[in-house]
Amino acid sequence: MSVMYIEGGVPLEGTWRVQGAKNSVLPILAGCLLTREPVRISNCPRLSDVDAAVDILHHLGASCSWEGEKLVVDARGACETSIDQGQMRAMRSSIMFLGPLVARMGEARVSYPGGCELGPRPIDLHLEALSTLGCQVQEQEGEILCRGRPRGGVIHFPFPSVGATENAMLCGVGADGDTTIVNAAREPEIVQLQQFLNALGAKVTGAGGSVITIQGGHTLHGGEVSVLGDRIVAATLLAAVAAAGGEVRVEGVDWRHLSTVLQLLEQGGCRVRSGVDSVWLRRDRYVPLRGGGCITTAPYPGFPTDAQAPVMAAFATARGTTIFQETMFSRRFGHVVGLREMGADISIRDQAAWVRGVPRLHGARVTATDLRGGGALAVAALGAQGQTILDGLEHIDRGYQDMEKMFGHLGAKMIRR
Ligand code: EPZ
Repeated sequence: MSVMYIEGGVPLEGTWRVQGAKNSVLPILAGCLLTREPVRISNCPRLSDVDAAVDILHHLGASCSWEGEKLVVDARGACETSIDQGQMRAMRSSIMFLGPLVARMGEARVSYPGGCELGPRPIDLHLEALSTLGCQVQEQEGEILCRGRPRGGVIHFPFPSVGATENAMLCGVGADGDTTIVNAAREPEIVQLQQFLNALGAKVTGAGGSVITIQGGHTLHGGEVSVLGDRIVAATLLAAVAAAGGEVRVEGVDWRHLSTVLQLLEQGGCRVRSGVDSVWLRRDRYVPLRGGGCITTAPYPGFPTDAQAPVMAAFATARGTTIFQETMFSRRFGHVVGLREMGADISIRDQAAWVRGVPRLHGARVTATDLRGGGALAVAALGAQGQTILDGLEHIDRGYQDMEKMFGHLGAKMIRR
């Protein structure tokens, strides 16, 4: 297993165009099952989670091929109705295939999905939504069998779950009748899923707001989509500049998708300028960040849970105490162990991490235990004094495409060996 060697304390300088968003491309890949014509996906990130989705598509009978950074999916030949347990466990988004698979085949058999260990991650809202749309859902000894043609219906989510909203949209598009989703998640990735489905001939409206409506009964054709820029990779990059100092322009991301993160970094003393498709951030490496306040994660447009860990890493060396309150997942402070190894002063009480800024972190041997936690340890290492050896790269590779190339381009000394 390779590890990352990171030499800290080097300011980051330059411009970087962020990769396509993992959390956008994964539901799009599942949505390719809804058409029998080819779909071309550009700006598709090369990630192990994308490989896992491609693996599922192949298994179901679709063909997938890379044309440079474009992934072409042709699901004409899809005829399989079940997904292997190993494939389901490879990532959380494997569950996203359930809705489109039952819509296409009238039957789908899956098991519980895997993914980052962030505490319990039930799929009850996914299953209830499919059941509301008219599918019969049976759970038996870890297996989920979903049968029947979806008719459409009105789904009321008690919580705006991202994945359940996407699954409901994908199933609703394949349904015979109309679907309304109330209290839908509002993330930019949901808006992109709507754009993608409509580009294929679906009739979906309302994404970005709390009520999404879908006119069922349309046959989808092929089409093209360009995956939107990854706002969490952008947030990680900006947090790294906040930690290490320097001046970086991140291109390919809409600053409005990052506004809560940018506001916090600005309050901490970073200079931020936002363009149409880019964000520029500067932090004087001789002036520490200013901590203080309480950051509470929330569904979009609130502070993203996925940015909590990388941003916390930057505030580990801020002046003052910053509190991070995690409301989305019960175990999303896995990175704190590694940050403490590097000299951070962080205590956890219930769902809050109290980060008392220290003058500097030092290099250490640390292990990523989840994707964004891995991003946090990389951010900390870039700002720390001395060398960090970062283990657990399999987590990082799920969502950060060539992390060492990205930071290396900006002057960081980060080598994978
Ligand atoms: C998506 O996960 C993202 N993953 C996550 O990103 C992200 O952290 C999360 O949304 C929140 O923004 C993808 O898009 C692939 P949820 P998802 O359903 O869909 C509870 C990353 O690092 N819940 O909105 O799984 C759930 O337990 C990843 O890129 C139920 O109770 O998130 C959690 O507490 C990690 N029942 C809350 O809702 C359900 O059926 C939010 O989950 C579904 C969810």
